[in-house]
Amino acid sequence: MKRLMAWSGLFFLVFVLFHAYGNLHYFEGEIAYDHYAYFLRELLVPIVPHGGVLWILRVLLLACLLAHAGSAFHLWARNRRARGTDKYAVKKAGAEYFASRYAMRTMRWGGVILLLFIVWHILQFTTLSLTPGGQYVHGRAYMNMYYGFQLWWVYLIYAVALAALCLHVWHGVWSALQTLGATRGGTVPLVRLVAFVVAFGLFAAFMVVPTAILFGLTDAPMDAAEYAMRAAEAGIGSSH
Ligand code: HEM
Repeated sequence: MKRLMAWSGLFFLVFVLFHAYGNLHYFEGEIAYDHYAYFLRELLVPIVPHGGVLWILRVLLLACLLAHAGSAFHLWARNRRARGTDKYAVKKAGAEYFASRYAMRTMRWGGVILLLFIVWHILQFTTLSLTPGGQYVHGRAYMNMYYGFQLWWVYLIYAVALAALCLHVWHGVWSALQTLGATRGGTVPLVRLVAFVVAFGLFAAFMVVPTAILFGLTDAPMDAAEYAMRAAEAGIGSSH
């Protein structure tokens, strides 16, 4: 169960690292960013149909989500059963006990916040069912994000979710590397450092784009006519 958690967690981590890096294309401008979103849908065409790789990724992510959350719940339930009614029978001493309980709580609540966030995120940017800040359009990822992050409360939702992600990754990377056997001998300080750098680097990489949008540091999206012309020049077709 712990290995399943570790592997599915690491798969998620690779996904969010690529996602954060991909979002940085925002600073290259509207056409470049939407071109990147379009490119993701064109991957391996015509070996697979338009959007095929994206669907494979969605299925893999969903499978990992079920494996990750399912094994977390199973381990929690088993732990609870094993403890029985005497909750404090195997209490660790002082600071160590506090630290591990604190980490467990953070992981549990962090996991719940992240699940809720993913639902919100898909409704906002994939299905466009919730469109705070303006009239979103399929394929115009730059514009949709620009509209969303004009609003402080949308920004806040992302900041809270990313803080949860950061804490989750911080503890998760450490825990996964331990489960997979990377913390034998003298590697402990290095593993702790890797977990810290990855987690906070991820937070910074994700938050830089919404922050720039909120503070008016990015260009406003083009009007429909200009966009249609420029998108056609760049060869971006209907991209959803
Ligand atoms: C500042 C933070 C983030 C921003 C601005 C952002 C933005 C976006 C945008 C614009 C899309 C749609 C891309 C397109 O239409 O091609 C997207 C897709 C997605 N994002 Fe994020 N994202 C952020 C953080 C996250 C995080 C932390 C996760 C996971 C924990 C995540 C998971 C996903 C997933 C799974 C999809 C694909 C949904 C699908 O098409 O089925 N995102 N994101």
